[in-house]
Amino acid sequence: MFDIIHIIHLYAAFIYGGFLIVDNLFMSKMGESLSAEEATKAREAIMMHVRKIVPWALLTAVGTGIYMFIGVFGQIGADGMSSFQILLSIKAFFGLWLGFRGFNQKFFGINPWVFKSHLFPFILVLIIIFLSQAMFISF
Ligand code: HEM
Repeated sequence: MFDIIHIIHLYAAFIYGGFLIVDNLFMSKMGESLSAEEATKAREAIMMHVRKIVPWALLTAVGTGIYMFIGVFGQIGADGMSSFQILLSIKAFFGLWLGFRGFNQKFFGINPWVFKSHLFPFILVLIIIFLSQAMFISF
């Protein structure tokens, strides 16, 4: 069961992170070769499909993440948290923040909480992916 949830987590992270990468690196440049009106139209032609899938991918990443967190965090030892527990907690905090923003946006129409542009989630996803690997190295 854990392995299946883990794989679903990875796919969801790929879909969510993949959109942010395409948006920040490529879609944001559409205005360079299209007029403002064309760029808005082109962006909307993509975003109408993005809105059907990407928020669900984020919520799936958060849901499966919480499931795995409960399974792998373990007991805090007498000499404090392990490096795995520290980095996983930071990663979970950032992931939950993104999830909270996404949930508010999807279900309550509240536009991104605290930070408005997609640059902020993009940077958080890069940090989360780094932490997701770094947490397995003990220091
Ligand atoms: C947008 C949000 C998220 C992204 C992009 C993301 C991405 C990733 C990635 C790339 C991995 C590495 C898997 C591997 O190398 O085996 C991972 C693992 C993990 N994630 Fe997330 N994650 C997100 C949210 C969360 C949240 C909110 C939590 C917890 C509350 C969480 C908990 C975990 C756990 C516990 C693992 C490690 C499982 C193990 O021990 O193998 N994730 N995540």
